[in-house]
Amino acid sequence: MVGLPARGKTHIARRLARYLSWLGYTTRVFNVGNYRRARLGSQKDHHFFDPNNAEASAARAEVAQIALDDMIAWFVDDGEVGIYDATNSTRERRKQVADRCRQAGHQVVFVESLCEDEEVIESNIRQTKLHMPDYANADPERAVADFRQRIANYARVYEPVDASEGSFVKLIDVGGRLEAHRIQGYLPSRLVYFLMNLHPIPRPIYLTRHGESLFNVEGRIGGDSLLSPRGEAFAARLSGYIAKEISEREISVFTSTLRRTIETARPLVRPTLEWRALDEIDSGDCDGMTYEEIRRHLPTEYEARETDKFDYRYPRGESYRDVIRRLEPVIVEIERERTPILVVAHQAVLRALYAYLMDRPPHECPRIDVPLHTVIKLTPTTYACAEERVHLGPMATALSRP
Ligand code: F6P
Repeated sequence: MVGLPARGKTHIARRLARYLSWLGYTTRVFNVGNYRRARLGSQKDHHFFDPNNAEASAARAEVAQIALDDMIAWFVDDGEVGIYDATNSTRERRKQVADRCRQAGHQVVFVESLCEDEEVIESNIRQTKLHMPDYANADPERAVADFRQRIANYARVYEPVDASEGSFVKLIDVGGRLEAHRIQGYLPSRLVYFLMNLHPIPRPIYLTRHGESLFNVEGRIGGDSLLSPRGEAFAARLSGYIAKEISEREISVFTSTLRRTIETARPLVRPTLEWRALDEIDSGDCDGMTYEEIRRHLPTEYEARETDKFDYRYPRGESYRDVIRRLEPVIVEIERERTPILVVAHQAVLRALYAYLMDRPPHECPRIDVPLHTVIKLTPTTYACAEERVHLGPMATALSRP
């Protein structure tokens, strides 16, 4: 990462890490600020960041080096994508980092965030920096003034990345413009694609399963059945809930192409996007069976799924890993949307989306609790995602497992 303080680097780094981990890459953020706070203490004022303060500069360079050493060591263990989150504001500093990585055999891409919009910077300082341990118990106005001085210290020596330094992506004015240079290969290209769609505007994402279906009532998996009367009642309640939450505002509604989700979204009377990528996990030869029937007629399959639910693939069907892969375009669309989003989908698919949004390891997703007739409201912020679960009822009759 490259950029002056309060340019959203940590936000971008964390989002990237979440996306890449979810795609299956072992990814980790090495945040030099956290190393500094842990080793040198957190309450440092702007003098500490003055480039003419030789002692402090040496101490800062040392913690940056420790973080870099840790990242290089982590690559040897099992790391695939390391995100080195620091200002890296001079050419010389970036050369040291890049040389070290390249010598160890790693490809380097600089992700630089440039922003001169005073309003964005101010809001970033107030929303994130004031909550850092650096300013615990400090008067907010004095803290903002100090942070601005800190930025000014960095700005005095700041050199934007230039073409001679190798591959880079520059994000200019929070997604307003993007510049990519010498980006080659699959992963760097995905990275650019993802960054093109990223924005920091917080808005809620509502996840819900369809209302109870006729197959749910019988305990059958898959299929394309319609809603049970309880499922229809849920659809009506969902519409009332969303109307209260959103009122006249816009909301993007995504469903799968299966009837139970389309029927659930119908009472909302809002434009809906039907995604095949949101269809339920394909249970292949087991489609339409109950779990008990699978256990009796296909015991080896049943056992194999019990043993490794994440990687188990139904005969002529899918695994959770397959579901995650096909959801990628939905993820990018969720990141891109600036309005609230309601996703009406299915148990396995929503587990995968939830794992992404809550930054849970993908292999945990087959066991995440996503009950029927419950809306999961997630509001992403820079450092976390707030969760609220609202059970709208009625109580579903379905048993999800035998
Ligand atoms: O039972 C409802 C359902 O959506 C099925 O269609 C699907 O196969 C299943 O849930 C996914 O859940 P699990 O992975 O726990 O079997």
